[in-house]
Amino acid sequence: MNAPLAASLFSGAGIGDLGLKAAGFNFTAMCELEHDRAALCRLNFPEAVVFAEDVTEVGPSFVAAVRSAEQRTGQELFLVTCTAPCQGMSKSGQGTLLKNIREGRRPKLDPRNRLILPALKIIAELRPRWVIFENVIEMRGTWIEDEAGELRPILEIIASSLGTDYLGQAYDVEFADHGIPQRRQRLITVYTREEAAKGNYERGYALVPSATHAKRPIRGLKRWISVAEALSGFPSLDAKNAEAAASATIPFHRVPVLDPKKYEWIRHTPRGASAFDNQCINTACGFTGNTTHGNKRTPDGINRASVTTPLHCQACGEMLPRPYTADPDGTKRIMAGFTSAYKRMDPDLPAPALTRNLSYPCSDHKVHPTENRVLSLAEAMHLQTISQFEYRWGPIGLAIRGKEVVREQAPDTLIRLVIGESVPPKFLQLLGLHIRSLSQADPLGAGLNTVPHETRLQLSLI
Ligand SMILES: C[S@@+](CC[C@H](N)C(=O)[O-])C[C@H]1O[C@@H](n2cnc3c(N)ncnc32)[C@H](O)[C@@H]1O
Repeated sequence: MNAPLAASLFSGAGIGDLGLKAAGFNFTAMCELEHDRAALCRLNFPEAVVFAEDVTEVGPSFVAAVRSAEQRTGQELFLVTCTAPCQGMSKSGQGTLLKNIREGRRPKLDPRNRLILPALKIIAELRPRWVIFENVIEMRGTWIEDEAGELRPILEIIASSLGTDYLGQAYDVEFADHGIPQRRQRLITVYTREEAAKGNYERGYALVPSATHAKRPIRGLKRWISVAEALSGFPSLDAKNAEAAASATIPFHRVPVLDPKKYEWIRHTPRGASAFDNQCINTACGFTGNTTHGNKRTPDGINRASVTTPLHCQACGEMLPRPYTADPDGTKRIMAGFTSAYKRMDPDLPAPALTRNLSYPCSDHKVHPTENRVLSLAEAMHLQTISQFEYRWGPIGLAIRGKEVVREQAPDTLIRLVIGESVPPKFLQLLGLHIRSLSQADPLGAGLNTVPHETRLQLSLI
């Protein structure tokens, strides 16, 4: 069989799509608004037409590029991936939104959540056999105004836009359950109009692969891969000085040097703890009972970090190695922040979800489990499973340095940003193989690693 054709909307730097490419898909067209990310797509998907354009405007040219690939290969488009931005979908927002509507007030809607509408138009025109949407779990409860201005759940709009030819479902997926050393939950919504797959779905096969790992494994599942296990092959680094903060041999295995004050806060932070809870380091005292940091809900329901957490030892009065800020007159006070800031990752669990702030210790859970530093970019690429695939970070453009024109690699800020927003390619590789098997009349014969829901139920009764 020829490589099935795929296209991608909101492609980012193509990181998630990398897994689908490894599962045998041939990307024909990709669309990404930001030029630097689109350049990374071009570099890594030379076979695709990459549009650095707004999804609201790309429609006709995107469809034409896919149609031309279909004609060239004599194949129908198999898959579209659609990973619209998720910043507008918040945990709490929808409750307030619906309450406002009930009480007759005009709801405050985030326009970014409506970017899915032009994407759905393109998908409806392309009519791929499969569509995969990836977004934050909150998408399940997100409502937006549809094309007619009517407020409806986004999942309902997806289903009605695809039409009755398609069957599908939204699944809450924890990537750690699929052998990825990171706790990252996402809503994976899969639709198909492939006849064999619809039959298999109705026979009880899920449209996403079964979990292979669990926090507490039972019945043949493996234990989650911990961050300590995943990072065990990387040489140690230390954020104390430039020499210790970078590996001379492993690309991207380098971390920012910390200013001495922050370095001390982190150096004294025990395993699994936050620097906000550090105890007395005066060797003559060593008191370990200093009040720890915390937070309180204000009468208007807002969670605020304590401002009274002691900065001096309650036994000897010496300064504690806790995060502080200094007023212009030199008075030091506990830094505004929750205990999740300046906090070490739990070595026994998969890493917390990587974000664009992965190099900032003041962001949540960003400190290495045992070393005095944040994660290196190489480690982040490993935890996001990018390093399991071939991916190039440049050159993506030309820059002038002095009198020379040089070819530029992606800057660290861009790398952090696109890692934080990406889908771990390993999961999309598994999903890609899964939907290819489900498209066969005999999915188990085609290599599926799972059994239909009914069979699972019967097995669990044995
Ligand atoms: C969640 S990220 C995609 C991540 C990607 N699937 C991956 O795995 O790397 C969403 C992307 O949509 C892009 N985007 C935002 N608004 C857009 C628009 N109007 N048209 C096209 N792309 C847009 C953002 O720049 C961002 O790269």
